[in-house]
Amino acid sequence: MRGAVYVNGTITPADTAVIPVLDHGFVYGEGVYEVIRTYSGVPFLYDRHVTRLRNSARYLHLDVPFDDETLRSWVDKTADTAALAGDTYIRILLTRGIGELTYEVRATPAPSVVIIVKPQDGAPARVRSDGIRISLVPILRNHPGSVNPIIKSNNLLNNALAMQEAHRRGSEEALMCNYRGELSECSQSNFFMVRDGVALTPKSAAGLLEGITRAFLFEVARELGVQMKDTTLVPADLEFADEVFITSTTREISPVVRIDDRVIGDGKPGSITLKLWDAYHRRALEMTSANVGQAR
Ligand code: PDD
Repeated sequence: MRGAVYVNGTITPADTAVIPVLDHGFVYGEGVYEVIRTYSGVPFLYDRHVTRLRNSARYLHLDVPFDDETLRSWVDKTADTAALAGDTYIRILLTRGIGELTYEVRATPAPSVVIIVKPQDGAPARVRSDGIRISLVPILRNHPGSVNPIIKSNNLLNNALAMQEAHRRGSEEALMCNYRGELSECSQSNFFMVRDGVALTPKSAAGLLEGITRAFLFEVARELGVQMKDTTLVPADLEFADEVFITSTTREISPVVRIDDRVIGDGKPGSITLKLWDAYHRRALEMTSANVGQAR
């Protein structure tokens, strides 16, 4: 893999980076993370991602022993070492740390910090022209009373199992329900559907990750005059979907034209979806080119 990785102060090429086996992020899946991407070399909505990282850590009672500037300097140093042309994908991981095999937090006094910087490619052209197929999988999204989905946690078995089920069904993403049978989110993205010109997305109370892209899209929609609201959705509502799309930092917006065998609208990416995607991308370029001074 091209790129560079920072592990607790040491930066190496991506394919030689290592973490001790006794890291509780490895042995117990204890940790939180963020995925950020750059435009024109500038991390987009960086502050919002770092705020969410801190919020996620708070749910684990995990201290974050560094300030934002320090973290940014580690990210920049890692990006410098990676020296990648074009835009990058930045994954920041914070684990419980290295220590004895016990859940006793005193055994791991210092969290581990890992920063992965690798190339970020744009969406393949086919996504825009043809859209994608997703699957509504039987795997439920974690119950908020267990590993709450609002935590961007390294504990991703729920997500991986769902995505692998979708892959087995020939789809590119997995849409999940919560324990109440309501739609919540996908394994690596948030879910939206358009009905009668209004873009709808499940409420946070459904048990989901509050996506940075999802939140920013509400601002973009307001600027565009597209009605957007969060509401309770169930699988039966999919019948009335004129358009469907999913959102994430790495995807931006992906039009969904099929959910399993259900064709959405005319089976082509929807006009509201594409309008939102264009406006989102334009805003991302505007906001980052305004900060090109910060670029690496
Ligand atoms: N995933 N829901 C889940 C479960 C996610 O993992 C993600 C992001 C999102 C969208 O969040 P955002 O808009 O802040 O990227 C929703 C990242 C991209 C990942 O794990 O690779």
